[in-house]
Amino acid sequence: APTGEGTARAPIVTVMGHVDHGKTTLLDYIRKSQVAAGEAGAITQHIGAYHVTTPRGAVTFLDTPGHAAFSAMRARGAALTDIVILVVAADDGVMPQTIEAVQHAKAAGVPLVVAVNKMDKPDAEPDRVKQELIQHDVIAEDFGGEVQFVPVSAKTGAGIDALLEAVLLQAEVMELKAVTEGPAVGVVVEAKLDRGRGPVATVLVQAGTLRRGDMVLAGGEFGRARVLLDEHAQPLLEAGPSRPVEVLGLSGVPNVGDVFNVVEDERKAREIALFRQQAAREASLSRREAVPGGDIFS
Ligand code: GTP
Ligand code: MG
Repeated sequence: APTGEGTARAPIVTVMGHVDHGKTTLLDYIRKSQVAAGEAGAITQHIGAYHVTTPRGAVTFLDTPGHAAFSAMRARGAALTDIVILVVAADDGVMPQTIEAVQHAKAAGVPLVVAVNKMDKPDAEPDRVKQELIQHDVIAEDFGGEVQFVPVSAKTGAGIDALLEAVLLQAEVMELKAVTEGPAVGVVVEAKLDRGRGPVATVLVQAGTLRRGDMVLAGGEFGRARVLLDEHAQPLLEAGPSRPVEVLGLSGVPNVGDVFNVVEDERKAREIALFRQQAAREASLSRREAVPGGDIFS
């Protein structure tokens, strides 16, 4: 994601950690407390990413279903994530997927904030978590390192405000910036075919501003963004950097990880989309031919 020029933008955060350590519960807690803080009866829909506003600043959460999605995005060159929240259950400690998450984050050059979760449990051992992570070069501030460890309970909500503060502090250190002027560029973070609404893509704007009515090119699909919706299904007129937004009006369903950008005219958008679709077909054909006997499937 862009740093450098422009104005300050919200950090884009991915939550990772071992199975059952509380990633979903944590994300749900943050999302629900936000809905409660917003207008009564607001329906939060699942759009794969959401934007949280705190008194100190905004944070964008990427709701990746797991490490596979994170790697897939990385493989596509979409270095979207600015900060990883590593969830470690204090009663279970460091586990294989905890280590895997540390390695993913390190390989991507993304800093960690550790959420030491399940602190409400009587057998919680937060100091053990700190000790165990030292071996993996994740060193807490009170151990002479630079990584923030925040004790939380995703179940009761204890410590969650402090966790968001820690993320925003990390973001400040990183001086995350993006330009807001100009046509929007970003990445598709979720896409589906909706029975009533047609192709729906959630895109995360990285730079520029996406406006309702813009001609959007997303991977091999294109179309006019006739509707923009936020995570509360509220219509938006525009979305700037670090804002996730649902786009309606595309010709088809793009792939997660596809780059999207706003282009000037429809003819050009169609041309590029068709070219990409053709290229994708040819690539999949040649992959099949590379497998002995693979051509019987074509
Ligand atoms: P996977 O998606 O399967 O990898 O798991 P996850 O990391 O998303 O964990 P999830 O949020 O599903 O939580 C696993 C279990 O731990 C659930 O039964 C949660 O209710 C419970 N749990 C999560 N956070 C806490 C917590 O802070 N305290 C307690 N006591 N239980 C928790
Ligand atoms: Mg989960």
